[in-house]
Order: sequence, then structure tokens, then C-alpha cells
Amino acid sequence: MADLLDEIQLRYACRAFVEDQPVTLVDVALLLEAGRLAPSAFGLEPWRFVVVDDSQRAAVIRACGDQPAATTSAALIAIVALVDALDPDSDYVRDRLLAEARDGEVAPIAQAYRAFYDPTVIKAWAIGQCHFAAAHMLLQAAHMELGSCPIGGFDPVALAAALDLPADETPALVIAFGRCAYPAPPRRRKLD
Ligand SMILES: Cc1cc2nc3c(=O)[nH]c(=O)nc-3n(C[C@H](O)[C@H](O)[C@H](O)COP(=O)(O)O)c2cc1C
Repeated sequence: MADLLDEIQLRYACRAFVEDQPVTLVDVALLLEAGRLAPSAFGLEPWRFVVVDDSQRAAVIRACGDQPAATTSAALIAIVALVDALDPDSDYVRDRLLAEARDGEVAPIAQAYRAFYDPTVIKAWAIGQCHFAAAHMLLQAAHMELGSCPIGGFDPVALAAALDLPADETPALVIAFGRCAYPAPPRRRKLD
């Protein structure tokens, strides 16, 4: 079995996919499962994953500025941040914190979350949490030898409309998947 670090090395942002190579439903299910298992602060999992369907695809691609990674992708998954649900008094937070407490006391966690919660930054914070789920999906894709490209360069209003999002959700990231049309380009990281 490959070292995880080797698989991390395999991933790169692919900007052009081979167009007639589909991503199977099983692949999509595995990508979603990898995202679902991602960590989140307070165990709040403030995300929803939208597998972009044929009726949404053209508008989603337009919202992503017709980036080639999107236009050539075999599958697109949008990660959407839950915002209003993060109010400390919401049923959503109550349920998630009960799960986070497992069999222990929920009150200290609830108190800590209430002290932490700031409605002026919660949207950006929720988007940041979504990026953990995204990282899991990107690495799962690399493990399956699938290419991927995170796409944060989108028009959020157009993307929310394309995905028909309710007002209390905001798009965090789109990820394009497929068989990459070219091998990994050389890269230089800090400290290389
Ligand atoms: C949150 C996020 C948003 C990104 N948005 C875009 C994007 O809109 N378009 C794009 O081509 N690449 C996008 N990327 C990919 C980065 O440009 C890429 O990861 C970076 O250049 C490093 O290259 P590598 O992923 O091939 O190692 C994004 C990456 C992240 C993490």
C-alpha cells in the first residue's frame, strides 16, 4: 500500500480533464463519504454536499467563469456552507453538540460554543470548515487515481442561484473531478 504522503504528492489541481471518461456513481459516493468524515470545530459539520446534476451544470459552470476545469469535468460537487444553522440556539447546533458530547456532558461544550459564536464572522468561519471536507475529497480522489480541481473562483450569487440554495446557505467551494488530461506539472512549495 502506498504511503499517505505519496498519495498526497499525487494530487494536483487539474485544469483539463479527458472529456469522455465518466466518474462513476460509486466514485461519487466514495468522495462524498470522505467529505462526510472530515473533522470540524465543535463537530458542527456546517456543510452540505451538492452533486451537480445535468439541469444545474451549465449554470454552475457559468458561475465558475467557464473555467476549463469546470467545463471539461466529468463531475462537479459543490460544498455549501450552512450559516444560519450555526446560531447557538438552533436545533441544528443542539443536535450536533449532543453528538459531539457523545455520552459526556453537553453543557460545557454548548457554553464554549456560545462564547465562541460571533455572527459577524460565522459565514467565513463556516466556509473555512467546508474546506476541510474539500481536502478530504481531494485526497480521496487522488487515492482513486481521479483528477480534481478545487474551484473557489466563482460568483457566489450566481452559484447560489444555480444550485437553488436557500438564503441561509452559501457556496464554499466547487470541486471538479475527472481523469486528468495531462500528468502532474512540476511544483515548487515553500521550503522546497
Ligand atoms: C480554496 C481553493 C480555491 C481554489 N480555486 C481555484 C480556482 O478557482 N481555479 C483554479 O484553477 N484553481 C483553484 N485552486 C487550485 C490552486 O490554484 C492550486 O491548488 C495551487 O495552485 C497549488 O497547485 P496544486 O494544487 O497543483 O499543488 C484553488 C485551491 C484552493 C485550495
